[in-house]
Amino acid sequence: MKVLVAKDYYDMSKIAAVIVKKCIQNKPTSVLGLPTGRTPEGMYECLVNMYKRGALDFSQVTTFNLDEYRGISPEHPNSYHYYMKHIFFNHINISMQNTHLPNGQAADIVQECQDYEGKIQKAGGMDLLVLGLGNNGHIGFNEPSESLNLHTHLTLLTEDTLRANAALFHSMDEVPKEAITMGMGTIMKANKILLLVSGTEKKDIFKKMITRKITTQIPASLLQLHKDVLVIADEASLEKNVVYTKEHTAFYKWV
Ligand code: GLP
Repeated sequence: MKVLVAKDYYDMSKIAAVIVKKCIQNKPTSVLGLPTGRTPEGMYECLVNMYKRGALDFSQVTTFNLDEYRGISPEHPNSYHYYMKHIFFNHINISMQNTHLPNGQAADIVQECQDYEGKIQKAGGMDLLVLGLGNNGHIGFNEPSESLNLHTHLTLLTEDTLRANAALFHSMDEVPKEAITMGMGTIMKANKILLLVSGTEKKDIFKKMITRKITTQIPASLLQLHKDVLVIADEASLEKNVVYTKEHTAFYKWV
């Protein structure tokens, strides 16, 4: 795992967008894994700007999102379907049939999870998967637990996550309690992983995920086992007294 320190949120977003751009330029038919949340919004904005400047073509790109809430419609403003359309897909030349998110309203959730996993495999797996870091160490919606799931599955969200997500809903009661998420095995099979970490509220969990032992109680710590992970962390998310060893810190020669 390599850590690239970005000056601030804008710098992190710009570097992340350049990495996605290089991936697409190297392979126009790239399969991307994509996150939601506040952290990647700046990256999406940079990618949209690159597209508008004519520097990027998404026409052959395929995407798979990490997760979706269970039980809310794709038109719901807090659904990840809505987020992706409004923040990203509506502003670029991607073919909507090449974009995929789990269907949180599927009648048969088990089948939906199997189908989603199958579609990722059929597409040849993910060339690059971009991730955010949950306040409790989750990635996608793989929540801290005694054991973790390999494949795409339905999961119960933890209290921490419900509280973190409540800010985006009118009330705590409205926050979906379940979600469909790629599993840890789905994530670990991605060819390259880019983890974005930003802001003082991620300081503590980022330090834990990188300096402690690998544990299912911090799902993101498992990323240390992946062969090709780059973390872009802004200065605000770094604990000043932690020595990010040479093993952790490398400078940007990744794609
Ligand atoms: C959400 C999403 C994750 C995201 C994380 C962090 O619940 N399921 O994919 O990475 O929480 O969100 P944020 O970037 O807003 O801190």
